[in-house]
Amino acid sequence: MNKRYLPITLLILFILGLGACQHDIITINAGISLDTILVVKPPITTPAGGTPATLSDTVCFNSDILPLYVSYCGSAGCHSASSHKEGVITTDYGHIMNGIKANNSKSSKYYTIINNGMPPRGSAAMSTAQIALIKKWIDQGALNTQCTNVCDTTSFTYAAAIQTILANNCGGCHGTQPGSLNVYLGDYASTKAYITANKALFINAINHSTTLTALQRMPPSNKMLDCKIIQIQKWIQNGYPQ
Ligand code: HEC
Repeated sequence: MNKRYLPITLLILFILGLGACQHDIITINAGISLDTILVVKPPITTPAGGTPATLSDTVCFNSDILPLYVSYCGSAGCHSASSHKEGVITTDYGHIMNGIKANNSKSSKYYTIINNGMPPRGSAAMSTAQIALIKKWIDQGALNTQCTNVCDTTSFTYAAAIQTILANNCGGCHGTQPGSLNVYLGDYASTKAYITANKALFINAINHSTTLTALQRMPPSNKMLDCKIIQIQKWIQNGYPQ
């Protein structure tokens, strides 16, 4: 080959190579098996001195509570570790406990302020069910309960599973129009349309794939439990069942 063409040939090969990587992206999550994960119920920790909550009734901090604080309070520009408006950070257990009194929701500022000034008007508000869940967690001792596989991965219709996963983990930033970066995931049709048009990006984002920039990994900073990611991927693969 004429040496003159070498750089351009390399460039073309490089671009083709990039294309190949993009193609691989959809299988990036090969590490996660889509086989059914049996539901493993918490708790991992038991309230000190108190009556242990019944297994199925324990609220998991990592999978149930933290996502709500991250999504509805911890967005960039608000109470994330980098922006911390008014010194408030709501993206990890230690900081959230600055505003929570275990077993006393009435004296828990980060509970009483919800939908009472926070999130500010114009931002997505928490639902009654989400607020009730936070109260229940406080009533159970506001423990740092860490759960692993708390979902039933045989359940992946929009109504039974996906709607709630998206509301709890994405709703604060993508639950009202137009949504962060114009990604609106607040209803079935919009979510389906967005994912259909951006499938690889979406799957990579929820898998915190390193092929994306740190800013694009969703939810920001706190990856969802594998079993929830599996539910979403099954929903996509099975044609978005309602
Ligand atoms: C705390 C706020 C917040 C939460 C929670 C959140 N996002 Fe995002 N999302 C953002 C921001 C901000 C951007 C824009 C990021 C950037 O600048 O590239 C974004 C961008 C995206 C993008 C587009 C990425 C791109 O580069 O085009 C997708 C897809 C997305 N989010 C999906 C989700 C999903 C799915 C969830 C829930 C599992 C979620 N997000 C949770 C704030 C959030």
